[in-house]
Amino acid sequence: MARLPSDKWVDIVNLFCYPFSLRGPYFRAEYGAAYLGDSLDLLRSLPTGQVNLVVTSPPYALHFKKEYGNKSKKEYVQWFLPFAREIHRILSDDGSFVLNIGGSYNPGTPTRSLYHFKLLIALVEEIGFHLAQECFWYNPAKMPVPAEWVTVRRIRVRDSVEYVWWLSKTPWPKASNLAVLKEYSEDMIRLNRNGVRGTVRPSGHVIRDSFDKIAAGGAIPTNVTEADFSDVPESMLKMGNNAANDAYTRQCKENGIKIHPARFPALLPKFFIKLLTDVNDLVVDPFAGSNTTGATAESLKRRWIASEAVEEYLKASTFRFEDPEKQADPRQVTLF
Ligand SMILES: C[S@@+](CC[C@H](N)C(=O)[O-])C[C@H]1O[C@@H](n2cnc3c(N)ncnc32)[C@H](O)[C@@H]1O
Repeated sequence: MARLPSDKWVDIVNLFCYPFSLRGPYFRAEYGAAYLGDSLDLLRSLPTGQVNLVVTSPPYALHFKKEYGNKSKKEYVQWFLPFAREIHRILSDDGSFVLNIGGSYNPGTPTRSLYHFKLLIALVEEIGFHLAQECFWYNPAKMPVPAEWVTVRRIRVRDSVEYVWWLSKTPWPKASNLAVLKEYSEDMIRLNRNGVRGTVRPSGHVIRDSFDKIAAGGAIPTNVTEADFSDVPESMLKMGNNAANDAYTRQCKENGIKIHPARFPALLPKFFIKLLTDVNDLVVDPFAGSNTTGATAESLKRRWIASEAVEEYLKASTFRFEDPEKQADPRQVTLF
């Protein structure tokens, strides 16, 4: 693999991360660096108020523990708060913390745990975050579990959303929905063309006849993140995290390397990075896994720092920076 020429901002990051970075980054790319180790150490070594966005998906509290040390629901909030305290500290005053977390069932009963709501309350009331908006990731690829309730006794329906808490350090995080506009629907295009008649909806909402003049280059997205279906074959799932044929998965298979079992789709960090940051801003993912966040930040020209405790995952994540279409690009990843 070609070596990257030393990049001045990565050197600055290394200074920030001292002493965590005594080992240096595990690898780096043009805009960022990935570190192997405990993210609490990494977060503690970052300076105060310099990070624009932390977007991450920590291990969820699962009944059946996954292989990378998921905490129990009982201990989850206490386990997470030290990370949250550091995240709050390193964010700039207009920075955001986007936390993807899954719900789960209570063991033995067809009832849902409240652990992720308890976490949200603790993040706001104990750490001092503001809840900018609660968002959702629509993931129809989720398994129909627990089988006992969903496919055997058939007393619950399939779960297909995950929670994405958008938190901020102050009530006024930097954000622009103009950066994530969607294509107008046919109805909206017709509306913009023909205009609307002023009316009052049954709800009391006043629709003004100047409504058509708000056309701003696209439709404002909802708080449910899902793929744009227009260029995806119908047979493919909307926004599963099981993309079977992307460069990362393909190269893991070819090289006999374990594929990370709990990736989020690139569309998720992409949406929030575009919504909440500008080019050259700094994005951090402390629970990087296969480093979907770092690779997405890189493609959007945002600086990034990622940390992951399991070397196998981090090593495989370098595949995300070796897109065959970019092979000719001198921006190669360096393994240390
Ligand atoms: C849900 S996965 C993240 C997946 C990632 N969003 C992706 O798309 O690949 C959570 C990751 O956090 C890592 N992890 C757990 N505790 C950690 C810690 N203290 N420091 C660094 N990484 C940790 C796990 O090894 C796991 O890979």
